[in-house]
Amino acid sequence: MQKIFISLAVLASMGQNTFGQANLSNAKPEQYRPQFHFTPKAHWMNDPNGMVYFKGTYHLFFQYHPTGTTWGPMHWGHTTSKDMVHWQEQPIALYPDSLGMIFSGSAVVDRDNTSGFGKNGQTPLVAIFTHHNARLEKEKTGKFQYQSLAYSLDEGKTWTKYAGNPVLPNPGITDFRDPKVRWYEPRKKWIMTLATKDHITFYSSPNLKRWTKESEFGNNVGAHGGVWECPDLFPLDYNGRKAWVLLVSINPGGPNGGSATQYFVGDFDGSQFKPFSTETKWMDYGTDNYAGVTFSNTGTRTVLIGWMSNWQYAEKVPTNTWRSATTVPRELGLKEVNNQLLLTSTPVKELDELNGKTTTLNNVTVKGQYDLTAKIGSKAESFKLTLSAPAANDFSIVLANEQNNELVIGYDKAHNAFFINRTKSGKIDFEKGFGKRHSAPRLTTDSQISLTLLVDAASVELFADGGLTVMTDIFFPDKAMTKLFIKSATGVSIKDLKFTPLTPSVLAGL
Ligand code: FRU
Repeated sequence: MQKIFISLAVLASMGQNTFGQANLSNAKPEQYRPQFHFTPKAHWMNDPNGMVYFKGTYHLFFQYHPTGTTWGPMHWGHTTSKDMVHWQEQPIALYPDSLGMIFSGSAVVDRDNTSGFGKNGQTPLVAIFTHHNARLEKEKTGKFQYQSLAYSLDEGKTWTKYAGNPVLPNPGITDFRDPKVRWYEPRKKWIMTLATKDHITFYSSPNLKRWTKESEFGNNVGAHGGVWECPDLFPLDYNGRKAWVLLVSINPGGPNGGSATQYFVGDFDGSQFKPFSTETKWMDYGTDNYAGVTFSNTGTRTVLIGWMSNWQYAEKVPTNTWRSATTVPRELGLKEVNNQLLLTSTPVKELDELNGKTTTLNNVTVKGQYDLTAKIGSKAESFKLTLSAPAANDFSIVLANEQNNELVIGYDKAHNAFFINRTKSGKIDFEKGFGKRHSAPRLTTDSQISLTLLVDAASVELFADGGLTVMTDIFFPDKAMTKLFIKSATGVSIKDLKFTPLTPSVLAGL
C-alpha cells in the first residue's frame, strides 16, 4: 500500500485518537512495549531524523504525530541519550508552521559557524528538513515540498526556524525531500543528499543557506519498485582505503515486500557519486528497518538507527497507545566478498551494558529439537543469542509460547538463505501481507555461520556472518514468547551458543 499524505484539515475532521500520557502512568507494562528499543511514550512515530552527537549527548529526533496513533501532521519529536541505549524523551523540537509540516531531515554541528546562526562564539546545531505544504499539495502545483533550516544555540533544547526559509525551493519535483547534510572537508563545503522522486540529487553549499545543484544519481540504477526516500551518504574505511556508501530507502519495492533500504558503494568527489557496481543490494532483508540514517559528528564511527516498521502495515499494528519503535543502533562497516565491497551492520558495543548473566553451551548436538527453555529460565522475552553452526546443515531457532505461537528464524541450506517465518507468530491478520516468511541470501561461503539474534518483546534482529546479512522483523505474539528451541531435521552441531538476558530495567522511553 502506498502511503498518502493527508492534510491537516482532513485529519482534524477525522478526530484522531489522543492518549493522554497520564493514562500511561498507572498502566500495566504494555504487552508489546520494547525493553531496549526506543519508543515514544505515546502516539505515532516514523522515521528517525536529525541524528547528531554533540557535547556527550546523542540526539535522536523523529517523525512524530503527537495527537494520534496513525500518521498525521508531522512534528519532530526528540529524545536524547548518553549511550544510544537509555533514552530520555524530550519536548517536541519542531512544530508545523505556515510553510508546512516538518518532514524528515538531518542535523549538523556547524563548528565554523558557516551559517552565522552562532552568536558570541556559540556553536550552532543546524537542522535541515523538508517542509511539506498541504495547501500547495491540494492546489496540485507539484511544488509542495522544499528544504528549510532551524537552529539551536542551547545544545538542542530549543529551536528557532530560519526567517529566510525555505533555503531550497522546489524546482517542480513532486517528491523532493529528506535532506541529509554532511561537511565535505576536501572542498570545504556542505553536501546535501536529497531524494528527488526516483533518483538522488546532490547539492552543495558554503553556509547551509545557499544551495547549488551538483549532480544526479540513480535514474536507471538500483531498485525502483517505489519512491526514493531518506537517503544518506557517508565514507567508510576498509583496509586503510575509503569508499562511499549511499543509502536509499524505497517504498514499496523491498526484497520481502513494502519498505526497505538499498545501498550502493562507490566513490564521491564532492560533486558526483560513482558506484563500483550497479547491482541492487539491501542493507536489511527483514521488513522492519526503514528510513535508517546515520548520526553526524561521531568521528570515525558510523552508526545507523532505522524505523522498525513498514509502511505496508505500520498504521495497523496492534499496539494501543503508541506506534513504532526504532531499531537498535548499528555500527556500519565494509567487507570485501568475492571482489565486491559489501555493507555490514552490527549492534553497537554500548548495548552490552544491558547484558545479564550469560549461559554458554559448547557443542550442542541437535537432532530434531533441542529445548533451551530449561537452561535459560522461563523468561525469554528480551535477550541476545549468539551461536555458530556449519553451513552444511539446515537449522532454526524457534521462539514459542503456550498459545502455540511460533516465530522461526533459520538457515535454509538448499537456498543458501536465512529466513524469518512469522506466519504463526500470533496476531497477523491486521494486514494480509504481515504473516509471511521472509528470506535473505547468505553472502559468504565460509564453512561456519555465525549468528547474533537480538530479541525484544515484539521484534527480532538477526545479524548473520558478521553483519553481512541482516534481517529485522517485528511480531505480535498472543502472550509473551517464553520458550526457546533449536531445531534441525538433518541434525546439526552448534558451537559456542551464548544466551544473554538483556535487562528489562530499561523501559526505553518510559
Ligand atoms: C519516509 C517518509 C519521508 C517523509 C516522511 C513523512 O518514511 O515518507 O520521505 O519525509 O516519511 O513522515
